[in-house]
Amino acid sequence: MKKNKDKRVAVVTGAAQGIGCRVAELLAERGYRLAVNDLRMPDAPIERIRSRGGEVIGYAGDITDESVVEGWVRGVYDSWGRADVLVNNAGISFIAAAENTSRGDYRRVLDVNLVAPFLLAKAFGKRMLAAGHGSIVNVASVAGLVGIADRAAYNASKHGLVGLTRTLAAEWGGRGVRVNAVCPGWVKTEMDVADQASATYTDADITGRIPMARFATKDDIASAIAFLADDKQSGFINGHALTVDGGWVADGSWESLRRRHR
Ligand SMILES: NC(=O)c1ccc[n+]([C@@H]2O[C@H](COP(=O)([O-])OP(=O)(O)OC[C@H]3O[C@@H](n4cnc5c(N)ncnc54)[C@H](O)[C@@H]3O)[C@@H](O)[C@H]2O)c1
Repeated sequence: MKKNKDKRVAVVTGAAQGIGCRVAELLAERGYRLAVNDLRMPDAPIERIRSRGGEVIGYAGDITDESVVEGWVRGVYDSWGRADVLVNNAGISFIAAAENTSRGDYRRVLDVNLVAPFLLAKAFGKRMLAAGHGSIVNVASVAGLVGIADRAAYNASKHGLVGLTRTLAAEWGGRGVRVNAVCPGWVKTEMDVADQASATYTDADITGRIPMARFATKDDIASAIAFLADDKQSGFINGHALTVDGGWVADGSWESLRRRHR
């Protein structure tokens, strides 16, 4: 029993599919007990983690609702008694020209991608601060570092999330709670498939712009998140926005120059 109490606990939002699902599984493989959330019960990672002998609890609910967040935090502490890692992964995409983006669309994207991570960081962060340790990893995007056309709401939300990351790192680092962000490039998840179906870009548009000439895998992103989560691996990294993009943000080369180096 004591052994279980000593096992670290990781909390992951938006874990039903995509990056969040893989992050939950990887953290379970690394020995964490998991608490996973999504709009619907995240059955896929729960079944896989349990089938491999891992421990996981699920919580269905919209994390833009503060009462859902509060209920989940209570559920996690009632079940596991602690939370060592919070991964703010849940997010939504929105692609439209700025002049066609309504106030409602803009607000919804900010609510999910920026307000909800704040609510979660606040709710879990208070308890982490009381315990004197914790690690929060926010899943931002390369869209949180540079502008990309037709994504005013999404890019503003991800830039905001990077700013929130740095500010919480400044406020909480001295009390044992580190806060970092990962900034993925393009990953082949349901989000990307839906974006490609509704918008005008192809795989080749993406891979042609990336020095390493491929999409990120879910494992590329999950490994970076697991690294930032773990005090043993990244204990003095705080307030960092880690790009995991095959060099997309770093590369200012023009098209023909980039291709000449393939
Ligand atoms: N896929 C990419 O290319 C890419 C690139 C950069 C950053 N990201 C970011 O990575 C994160 C995960 O993206 P993904 O590609 O796995 O997306 P995805 O759409 O496949 O999965 C996101 C999950 O979040 C959940 N979710 C959405 N709103 C929620 C809410 N209000 N409450 C609870 N859960 C909610 C969804 O139901 C879904 O299961 C997002 O924050 C996204 O912005 C993705």
